[in-house]
Amino acid sequence: MPNQIYKGLPSIAYNNKDFWDKESNTVFSNSWVFVGFTHELKNIGDALPVTVAEQPILLLKNSKGAILAFHNVCSHRCLKLVDQRKNIGKIINCPYHAWCYDLDGNLLASPHFGGTNNHKPKGFDTKKNGLRSVRIHIWNDWIFINLNKKALPFNKYASSLIKQLKEIDLNKIKPVATLDFGEIKTNWKFLIENYIEPYHVQFVHRKTTSQPLKDHYTIVEGMCYGSGVDLKEENTSANSLAVSSKYLSLFPNFIIGTYYPGQVGVHLNMPVAPGITHQKRVIYTTDGNNLTKKEVSQIRDLWWKVHKEDHEICERLQLGRSSPVSKEGGLLSPYWENSVRTFQQIVVKHINKSTKR
Ligand SMILES: [Fe+2]
Repeated sequence: MPNQIYKGLPSIAYNNKDFWDKESNTVFSNSWVFVGFTHELKNIGDALPVTVAEQPILLLKNSKGAILAFHNVCSHRCLKLVDQRKNIGKIINCPYHAWCYDLDGNLLASPHFGGTNNHKPKGFDTKKNGLRSVRIHIWNDWIFINLNKKALPFNKYASSLIKQLKEIDLNKIKPVATLDFGEIKTNWKFLIENYIEPYHVQFVHRKTTSQPLKDHYTIVEGMCYGSGVDLKEENTSANSLAVSSKYLSLFPNFIIGTYYPGQVGVHLNMPVAPGITHQKRVIYTTDGNNLTKKEVSQIRDLWWKVHKEDHEICERLQLGRSSPVSKEGGLLSPYWENSVRTFQQIVVKHINKSTKR
């Protein structure tokens, strides 16, 4: 019903371990989860361990230059194989009993598994004991995985977002800076919710941006939701955010901002615990927009300040969830926060499916 005032998610959605476990088994298993940037896996053998739904996952560049995803555990005793980002050369070597895998996950060696110098005991099929692969999709510079293999094909899943971005040639964007904010003391959903509603901008970012509330509109379509702002008078200098923009999210954790005329920003939001999320932002320039070092540094500084303002708010949203007042959720603006409501409804839809099983 339009213009109805709804309550937001109850506090347990943000600070309760059972709810977090349900999200891991539903939201983060059923969906295309954003896990990394291809430009961070440049060379053959580059390996990046990530944790999704509390599961260790390995992203790996193989000998043909393709990025693959595997469950990051040895087939022998299920030890976590790669514990930090590094180049592993041509072979993944388990430190425990020296089992080895190639960059396509095939088992190459299981030394003395059947006794001294008996590497392949009778009945042991090396072909069936390679690393377990994880469904992966690369979209431009962005790596997505789907743990339960049941999500729609990515282009269908993300069709609304792809449509929203059709004016930008995403094949030609270039990463120019990375802001690693580390761990923020807030639930992952607060970072998404904050990003997709325009209501707070004029208050929280009054010192850093010039995007009046009246020029904003919200966007809600399928798995994509967020807001946009169209400004008649723009200031396109590198240290200004007085430009027409779109702030969009693809469920669950992908965030992209487009800043006319030549800048795109993408956030990686990785849930760590109910009240902790790791966030990183990569800043891109679009085709033909070449920035000087000074301009890149100005943009970095500006976004750092803007997001620190957001993080302070999100951490206080988390703290507010310890109050009994937040038990049944806060209030959502019927006009400015319909994107937040849509996002929360998709979360609830996933969670409810799990309780019906
Ligand atoms: Fe903000």
